[in-house]
Amino acid sequence: MYLRLRLTKKPAVNISTPLVHRTAAQMACWRMVRNAIRYRILTMLTSTARHQPAPRGSMIDRLLLRLPNLPESLENLVIWHVSDLHVTRWRKRYAQLIRELADLPQPDLLALTGDYMTHQGDEPAAMNVLEQLFENIAPKIITLGVFGNHDTNEFRQQAAGLPVHWLSADRPWRQNELCVLGCDCAAGTYDSDLLETLIHCPPDAEHGFRLLLMHMPMWFTCAADAGVDLMLCGHTHGGQCRLPGRIMLHGGEGGWPLRLGTGVLAMRQARCVISRGLGESKMDHLRFLCPPHAVVITLQRDDDPPPPITEPRVIVRW
Ligand SMILES: [Fe+2]
Repeated sequence: MYLRLRLTKKPAVNISTPLVHRTAAQMACWRMVRNAIRYRILTMLTSTARHQPAPRGSMIDRLLLRLPNLPESLENLVIWHVSDLHVTRWRKRYAQLIRELADLPQPDLLALTGDYMTHQGDEPAAMNVLEQLFENIAPKIITLGVFGNHDTNEFRQQAAGLPVHWLSADRPWRQNELCVLGCDCAAGTYDSDLLETLIHCPPDAEHGFRLLLMHMPMWFTCAADAGVDLMLCGHTHGGQCRLPGRIMLHGGEGGWPLRLGTGVLAMRQARCVISRGLGESKMDHLRFLCPPHAVVITLQRDDDPPPPITEPRVIVRW
């Protein structure tokens, strides 16, 4: 009788449904906390980069990158990384960028990774911005660049007169222990021939430290497998319009995961810097929770590198 009463009473309390909901919510929270802890630990273990975001009102991020294969001669090399200007007309943003860069100690290298313009007809405006840029800044060694998918053939011809060494598959740039490779996008397409580029500068002692400039980040895994030490790229604009938590909603083409769409990635001994860029393409002039930026990168040698990882992983989020 007692047993039956207990059995009949239990369902009447009906606490099973809320309990299930609470447990599911708790589990979701726990998963979020666990993933955050895992991410933090992995980031600490693979901490080969230190990021200093741009202060309020500035567009210049700073990044210290520690690299295992960096020769002594390249210790403290400073690279300015400028990507995706997407000039359609003169904007205050470009004036601010030029002013901010001109006020800094000049870099060793200036690296440009494509999409200087957006639509056919923007060529004169894009040339104007680049000319103003080069009037005000002068890297100690050289300016190197590649073209992106938005850069028309007409623009590429005009840009040949700028003080830039335009890299291409068969036109790398070498100085002492530094070899800089460049892989262009064909105009209006995502077509890039990374294999052809790598053939001209294979990984060996003769070619030293290999820096790759490329517009698209989607080739990073191939570059890391091929022994590239550092890759600089753009293209995704950091997602351009994001949800809180730096969650990208678009910008991953060709199956490239959105979570790898911006920031600094690590794989094997290689690092990849994916800029949020300085302009916009699809939604002209529209950015949300994704400020434009240029990155001042300082390279340092890492004498005690973490174990190499065989899949791309974000080590700096921005
Ligand atoms: Fe772009």
